[in-house]
Amino acid sequence: MANTPYDLIVIGSGPGGYVCAIRAAQLGLKTALVEKDKTFGGTCLNVGCIPSKALLHASELYEQAGHTFAKMGIAVGAPKLDLAAMMTFKDEGVDGNVKGVAFLLKKNKVDTFQGVGRIAASGKVEVKGADGKAQMLDTKAIVIATGSDVARLPGISIDEKRVVSSTGALVLDKVPAKLLVIGAGVIGLELGSVWRRLGAEVLVVEFLDRILPGMDNEVCRQFQRLLEKQGITFKLSAKVAAVDTSGNRLKAKVEPASGGAAEVIEADVVLMAVGRVPYSNGLGLDEAGVKKDNRGRVVVDGHFATNVSGIYAIGDVIAGPMLAHKAEDEGVAVAEIIAGQAGHVNYDVIPNVVYTYPEIASVGKSEEELKSAGVSYNVGKFPFTANGRAKVNLQTEGFVKILAEAKTDRVLGVHIVGPDAGNMIAEAAVAMEFGAAAEDIARTCHAHPTLTEAVKEAALAVGKRSIHM
Ligand code: FAD
Ligand code: NAI
Repeated sequence: MANTPYDLIVIGSGPGGYVCAIRAAQLGLKTALVEKDKTFGGTCLNVGCIPSKALLHASELYEQAGHTFAKMGIAVGAPKLDLAAMMTFKDEGVDGNVKGVAFLLKKNKVDTFQGVGRIAASGKVEVKGADGKAQMLDTKAIVIATGSDVARLPGISIDEKRVVSSTGALVLDKVPAKLLVIGAGVIGLELGSVWRRLGAEVLVVEFLDRILPGMDNEVCRQFQRLLEKQGITFKLSAKVAAVDTSGNRLKAKVEPASGGAAEVIEADVVLMAVGRVPYSNGLGLDEAGVKKDNRGRVVVDGHFATNVSGIYAIGDVIAGPMLAHKAEDEGVAVAEIIAGQAGHVNYDVIPNVVYTYPEIASVGKSEEELKSAGVSYNVGKFPFTANGRAKVNLQTEGFVKILAEAKTDRVLGVHIVGPDAGNMIAEAAVAMEFGAAAEDIARTCHAHPTLTEAVKEAALAVGKRSIHM
């Protein structure tokens, strides 16, 4: 079509959208990216993965300086917190990352538009800038990558000062004496850990009878014990029904999940971390006839295509785990599909990491999932107490667990609680992507002394032949 300036317009510049735009441009598609916010990178770079990891890193070092440096012969005295400087460190990290995305988009010759994108019709995207001026762009294909937003509880309003979402919890200007976290999911435990390390008393109220729903039970039980040892307290099978903000301190009404007498718990800050919901406000999906499911997620087929020809969707706005790397891989796959190639995402091998101390990392199936699917499996486990490097580093909490199919020895799931678990899980993901057996990992030479030897030993343990246990 002579009047079609773009092959592809991507709406939303999070890890799904910007990666999709870059891959499409690499493949020779004339590509534009529309972003409503001032900076690129979406939730992940601006108010998600990157700032939270900066605070997790800094607060972990603060904790180590106070607790473990002396044991290693480093005398620094009691560390002093300069919260404003820590926030600047975090903000500079975010700034460097979002500028990096802007640089990559320019380098790959992706045209960028700042404003709210709306699908005016198949092949037409309207971009409305902050000044209210709108322009219409023509395109052959559209990818919706508008991500997600904070889920809210009825009757509790977020002011981002005292009742905060993750966004407000990343910019508190003082350490709350008491932080009440609603939800023992990833955000609650990561940001709860940050503020506990910096001096807050932290109570986590969770609706279910366990933390981190969906992750392997054994891992979560041990992890909860470790967090409790660090000073975080949990109230499981409970819910926050209301938060009274009228006084100097917040008063949260906490009830048993199954109903019953409520108690009032005072706190200085309440963090609402009960999940995220797909975001498609103002996109014009209903007018364009794009189908959503009952949870507001855009419905796509195995090729990320919606029911409307030429409109695709990826990332948090569609079904699946709300993870940056899942969004990125979908961005690459959909760009390749639009360019006529065979893009694909293997949803069986998407790692999941909780960046607390110790870290939790998993890939593949949990024991509970294998049991309920009726799959026979063998378990190999190895504790970090028996790993030389962990011992010498005074980081012996946790273990590696490998689940392998009984008949074929094929690795079906790997679960790690331990220092640096997030980096170590990559080995398991590569092995599983190549259909490895536990025997393959067990026979692969692992450098000594490293924490990764625990992965090898867990693989040996599947065949009941660990050496160091
Ligand atoms: P998003 O990153 O949400 O990006 C969507 C973009 O679309 C936004 O920039 C938005 O402004 C823009 N947009 C929306 N509507 C329009 C419109 N109409 N026009 C123009 N632009 C629009 N995941 C991990 O894998 N690891 C982590 O460590 C991790 N940590 C997290 C920590 C926190 C506190 C939070 C909140 C999330 C975290 N996540 C993490 C999840 C991760 O951020 C998301 O899974 C990821 O950002 C999803 O990417 P996306 O591209 O689908 O959407
Ligand atoms: P989540 O889904 O991980 O956890 C929410 C928790 O809140 C659940 O345990 C749930 O049972 C509980 N809950 C729900 N309603 C409740 C109520 N009324 N009272 C008490 N508890 C209640 O959601 P979270 O932590 O908000 O994170 C959102 C998403 O962001 C996650 O899906 C995750 O994928 C992503 N994320 C990923 C990170 C990572 O990869 N390290 C870090 C942070 C977020």
